[in-house]
Amino acid sequence: MGAINPVVDLAADGDIAVLSVNHPPVNALSQQVRAGILAGVRQAIGDPAVRAIVLICDGKTFIAGADITEFGKPLQPPSLVEVEDAIEGSGKPVVAAIHGTALGGGLEVALCCHYRVAVPSAKCGLPEVNLGLLPGAGGTQRLPRLVGVEQALDMVTSGKHVDAKAALAAGLVDELAPEGALRASAIAFARKVVAEHRPLRRVRDQDDKLAAARDKPEIFEGFRKANAKKFRGFLAPEYNIQAIEAAVGKSFDDGLAVERKLFSELMAGTQSAAQRHVFFAERAVWKVPDVPDETPTIPIKSVGIIGAGTMGGGIAMNFANIGVPITIVETKQDALDRGLGVVRKNYERSTKSGRLTMADVDRRMQLFTGTLELDKLADCDLVIEAVFENMDIKKDVFGRLDRIVKPGAILATNTSALDINQIATAVTRPEAVIGLHFFSPANVMRLVEVVRARSTSKSVIATSMQLAKKIGKIAALVGVCPGFVGNRILYARSQQANAMLMEGAMPWDIDKAIYDFGLPMGPFAMSDLAGLDIGWIPEKSKSSTIREVLCEQNRRGQKTGAGFYDYDEQRNAKPSPVTEQIIKDFAARSGRPQRQISGQEILERCLYAQINEGAKILEEKIAIRPSDIDVVWINGYGWPVYRGGPMFYADTVGLSQVVKKLEEYGPLLGKDFTISPLLRQLAADGKRFQDMK
Ligand SMILES: NC(=O)c1ccc[n+]([C@@H]2O[C@H](COP(=O)([O-])OP(=O)(O)OC[C@H]3O[C@@H](n4cnc5c(N)ncnc54)[C@H](O)[C@@H]3O)[C@@H](O)[C@H]2O)c1
Repeated sequence: MGAINPVVDLAADGDIAVLSVNHPPVNALSQQVRAGILAGVRQAIGDPAVRAIVLICDGKTFIAGADITEFGKPLQPPSLVEVEDAIEGSGKPVVAAIHGTALGGGLEVALCCHYRVAVPSAKCGLPEVNLGLLPGAGGTQRLPRLVGVEQALDMVTSGKHVDAKAALAAGLVDELAPEGALRASAIAFARKVVAEHRPLRRVRDQDDKLAAARDKPEIFEGFRKANAKKFRGFLAPEYNIQAIEAAVGKSFDDGLAVERKLFSELMAGTQSAAQRHVFFAERAVWKVPDVPDETPTIPIKSVGIIGAGTMGGGIAMNFANIGVPITIVETKQDALDRGLGVVRKNYERSTKSGRLTMADVDRRMQLFTGTLELDKLADCDLVIEAVFENMDIKKDVFGRLDRIVKPGAILATNTSALDINQIATAVTRPEAVIGLHFFSPANVMRLVEVVRARSTSKSVIATSMQLAKKIGKIAALVGVCPGFVGNRILYARSQQANAMLMEGAMPWDIDKAIYDFGLPMGPFAMSDLAGLDIGWIPEKSKSSTIREVLCEQNRRGQKTGAGFYDYDEQRNAKPSPVTEQIIKDFAARSGRPQRQISGQEILERCLYAQINEGAKILEEKIAIRPSDIDVVWINGYGWPVYRGGPMFYADTVGLSQVVKKLEEYGPLLGKDFTISPLLRQLAADGKRFQDMK
């Protein structure tokens, strides 16, 4: 007994062998861990003094998954399955002792043990689906044998963890151990198993929970139907379901073969590659090359918000959620009351789903101070301006803030598109000015574009990124340009969509192509949702655009029951003959030849124009890296995760193909359209955005 290798140790506690893994930070199943467990189990089995084995981990957690850095590389033996077979096939009982999180391959290993003991704070889960995969080491076959088909379906397709108490109730865990006494409890449990001559309980041999679901295809069909919207376009949830169907319908070994086949398909496919890309992109996005981790940050103990409209209220909720007091300023009492009323209503809605109690709501609302006086912001550590999108108003607000707010505080704007460098000229401390561009609804949407202006200090940047993380957002640091990263790319798409209306496509044709590609909605449905009258001034309206005509006819989007589409009471959209006529009249007057536009052309023009704009953004160093653009479009605009973001998608299409198509469309793309030199260069070099360093 003793060290098996640098990460696995075998110790004796009387007649119980304790095999412990120590591979920080999360005891991931690296080659060494696999080899160490295999050798340790074999040694314990071969040792006549050993009656049972406990598998336990040092550090903060049980094995928390595969070693993701080994993905896509040739596997170094032993395979995980070899390790599992050794454990499950052991003639001596093996007990998994679980603390922290038993995730993915970690839980699959635990499922091969004959018994599982866990502390109450432990969690178990199979999150492979989030990487576009399924548990490929028996997880889909063993889990339903322990917890039943319904719960297994839920766990593998959501990737969610269950806590130890729920795991005990479900049969996934056999006994709870007192917190802090896991090792001793697991050893005692193992001794009890030996003393009572309990049978070796191999999960592969259990059948009663599967039998309950046999000949009931409605369980699977019902589950698919109930989740159709959530799973739309994703392969991995469907494959996970099929693997569990195989568990029910086939022998264990045949089911395992199905699982393996489905796993290999997913692993080799584009979707999983895209989802793994997103996983790493969402970690990389926090790193700012010239703002190192040790940059001093400013403690944010109170926040001021100016404007209690759509954005101000939603932004404020993020801070109330983490217990930070907010002072919110409006110009008129009724606007303030309305704004705070909306916040309360939003919170109260969360009580219906059980996420908050009324006491939680009251506690959060108590953190709000409403006022009509800007002076009340004097002591705030951070002020976020969310007033009307108007440069003069914003400069006026910043000029006044400059005189009121204490030195050292951050002065942020939520502008969607205005020049923050210009806003910063209104203050004597431009280093304090930054953009915090939240997305609507700001209490829900995960993305924040943190916009670095010319003079923004590193400490203001570091604090903003850290704060975004604290309120549960994902932040991308971007530079100043019209629309920043997200809306600038959106605008490039809108231009193509609008141009195609003049060439013969209808809004619903364009929306359908974009929806079918995987986005939650197309550009025209999105406009109807946002309201067509944003920035529209009735007195100045001259029927000069389709949008103006629609607004003039009071077709201002969903809120008026009509926009590009007609809406019924439940806000279901229907193509509108009125809109169609308006578009046809415009197209006739423009003299553009009309033709049938294919779904493929719609997609290529919309998406490739976006990619081209993304390349320009990189050229201008508005975004730090291509994957940041992907993070923005996934979290701010609902780009399908399984396509990895627009820049990753471009790589899968091939950049030379993108350039070739843009050249073919040529003049159709607009008289000001130019192909990004960076995109051309990468294409010419046979490179991908992912290869940029
Ligand atoms: N709505 C969106 O989807 C969205 C998304 C991202 C960013 N933004 C940006 O957020 C900002 C606010 O947009 P919104 O949609 O919340 O607008 P809104 O019209 O809903 O709210 C603006 C609020 O600011 C108040 N206000 C105006 N001047 C003020 C002043 N001097 N002092 C105090 N309060 C004042 C108004 O009374 C109003 O309640 C704009 O810059 C907008 O471009 C909006």
